[in-house]
Amino acid sequence: MTKSLVVITRPIPEPAPTRLARQFRVKINTKNEVLSHEKLERFVRGAAAMVSILPDQIDRRVIEAAGPELRIIANYAVGFDNIDLAAAKEYGIKVTNTPGALTESVAEHTFALMLAVARRIHEAGQSIREGKYKQWEPLGFLGPQLQGKTLGILGAGRIGAWVAHIARHGFDMQILYHDLERNRHFEHQFHTQSVSLPTLLRRSDVVTVHVPLVASTRHLIGKPELRLMKPTAILINTARGPIIDEKALAEALSRGQIWGAGLDVFEREPNVPAKLLHHPRVVVTPHIASATEEARAEMSRIVAENIEAVLRGRPPITPVS
Ligand code: GLV
Ligand code: GLV
Repeated sequence: MTKSLVVITRPIPEPAPTRLARQFRVKINTKNEVLSHEKLERFVRGAAAMVSILPDQIDRRVIEAAGPELRIIANYAVGFDNIDLAAAKEYGIKVTNTPGALTESVAEHTFALMLAVARRIHEAGQSIREGKYKQWEPLGFLGPQLQGKTLGILGAGRIGAWVAHIARHGFDMQILYHDLERNRHFEHQFHTQSVSLPTLLRRSDVVTVHVPLVASTRHLIGKPELRLMKPTAILINTARGPIIDEKALAEALSRGQIWGAGLDVFEREPNVPAKLLHHPRVVVTPHIASATEEARAEMSRIVAENIEAVLRGRPPITPVS
């Protein structure tokens, strides 16, 4: 019997590549580029399992190009807005993600951005590099302290909850949250209640986004929402770019409607609007919130387990629905 083919669209950390290669035929795209849609269609042909990454648009054409052997698409990410779930379902293909693996790392990056914006790390470091550091300044680079401030969390899932944990225990912040469903455990743990989106925006000193990208969260934060925020507020996004209307955000920042923003994700990656890039109190990173050794290895382990389960006729461990 020939071994099933597992295709991996970009090199990923161990253990998945070695572990899967012991059991299946593994093909990895080792060229230093994300496959174009056309190349992707050719690359996946004949696969029984596909390991995809976020820039891969796994649409109906790719799924059909893979052919009748395909049984699982294991997305190397917790988000899966890059996959056509309806088409996968139609062909009986399981789709899996990597929940839990990157929770702490994404939450830590949320604070990296929050502190960088509040304490003007990028701007202040830049001033040293430009030779502008002449003496200690009583009025230089002032920003808000986090202790005692109110943190508004959009989305009380795993990541939102770990962000609340750090905020509460590390910074003594007050927590507010907004979610479609009440999370009573979260409320009990963080002495808080679910509030409406407008209330959260009006009352928070920092707003951080931890919802998935779906139709109802596209431009969840747009012009009217930004208007409700405090002029001293900081907005953080480590979730998905299109949840925030970037154009409206750039305008709100240039008008001083909000104070600053920390962004790891963008509407049309890898493009970042110049207005955001050049605003002194916008801190940007290239979608690296899960980029720790620990998270990326655990994501790899979950990918391997899902593929092993499905190719051996068992249910996947982390199906997306
Ligand atoms: C990263 O953005 C992920 O969804 O894992
Ligand atoms: C985040 O919500 C996760 O599932 O890890």
